[in-house]
Amino acid sequence: MLDRRRFLTATTGVAALALRGSLWAQLEKVPSTLPDPGQYKSNAEAYWSELRKQFLIPEDEVYLNNGTVGSSPAPVLRAIFDGYSSTEKMDQQDPEDYPIWGYAAWNEFRDPLAAFVGCGRDEIALLRNATEANSYIANGIDLKPGDEVLMTDQEHPGGEHPWNLRAKRYGIVVNKVSLPKPVNDAAQVLNLFNYAITPRTRVMFFSHITTVTGVVLPAKELCSLARSKGILSAVDGAHVTGMMALNIHSLGCDLYSSSPHKWLQAPKGSGFLYVRDEVIDRVWNTIATEGWDEPKLRAERFQRIGSSNVPALCGLRAAIKLANDIGMDRIEHRHRELANYVLGEMTKRGAESWTSPDPALRCAIATVNIPPIQRMDLEKWMWNEHKIRIRGGEPSKLRLSTPYYLQKKDIDRFLEKFDEYKREKKL
Ligand SMILES: Cc1ncc(COP(=O)(O)O)c(C=O)c1O
Repeated sequence: MLDRRRFLTATTGVAALALRGSLWAQLEKVPSTLPDPGQYKSNAEAYWSELRKQFLIPEDEVYLNNGTVGSSPAPVLRAIFDGYSSTEKMDQQDPEDYPIWGYAAWNEFRDPLAAFVGCGRDEIALLRNATEANSYIANGIDLKPGDEVLMTDQEHPGGEHPWNLRAKRYGIVVNKVSLPKPVNDAAQVLNLFNYAITPRTRVMFFSHITTVTGVVLPAKELCSLARSKGILSAVDGAHVTGMMALNIHSLGCDLYSSSPHKWLQAPKGSGFLYVRDEVIDRVWNTIATEGWDEPKLRAERFQRIGSSNVPALCGLRAAIKLANDIGMDRIEHRHRELANYVLGEMTKRGAESWTSPDPALRCAIATVNIPPIQRMDLEKWMWNEHKIRIRGGEPSKLRLSTPYYLQKKDIDRFLEKFDEYKREKKL
């Protein structure tokens, strides 16, 4: 049994420990304002280094896998917590005003998002991620057995499998074009799609930025090709929001999905589905509750999924504000600069580039092939020995993501360790 004094010491110690390690305590140490935008002009590296303080990723960790999932910085986390404070008290004035979160227009969140991605509020539904949005697309369009969907061989499972399910259950056909590694130019991709279209092609589904190599596909041209042939275009833009400037209307697609929890650094479980107003009535709901059959709701009917998570939406809104405050042009410029740097350094080291040589077809993901190195062995070594997180694919592909909060010195540390690994393993 603990006596009172020892009990107090022990519990205070536990509390102190918990506090020290807690997110709240860490957030308190983060500067409450963003760096002066003027600093960017005089010393851009210092500006980014100051901005890095907004992220909780420890100083000694190098995170080169933002492509899988981003890290929400302090302004986003604070907005989520504030969202909980204002909703969890259940003290709304109107007794009927429960936070019935699955049944609202959420225009206060849709408006800034629609402005950020270049479309109308009524064309956007707030969902949890690109996988969910892709599933709505694959399940929602009328297709007969034998109708075809044409995609690339670089789709993410969360993009491809909704169609595979539809194929297995209802007999549609999934066809694929094989993208070269690397893709050299836009014409190559357009020709591949053009040749693969058949009289039964009803949908062209492709990633705006692929998960496999990070190539930025010529989405505008592909959508226009689809339109010219009466084919629906559905674009998986999981990576795009926050990585590069996006204007969905100017792409001219019919449907667009995205996961802002990647490059916009929004809360996990933030996604959206865009449906061009002219095709909204051709897309069935997959999840149905009140409103599913109400055309007046336009895209709002797709976000009616039952009770949902409003604090995450507060975080999404804060992530948009943060990107606007920094400036998407600066963010995209930084993304490209860092990716070009790591790509150049890796190719100097003999890596085979799977990243497009055309700057218009790449952004913040550099992919290289590095045989005979086994990427899993390298990945574990980097993380376990040096706190550097990378990711790739079997057997020897490395996919290096370069979010704006990464420092040049972080990339240099990765490169130095890469050289050390090769020396140690005699490769
Ligand atoms: C192109 C693409 N689509 C879909 C997804 C799935 O994203 P989420 O897990 O956020 O649904 C990813 C994830 O990396 C992706 O790269």
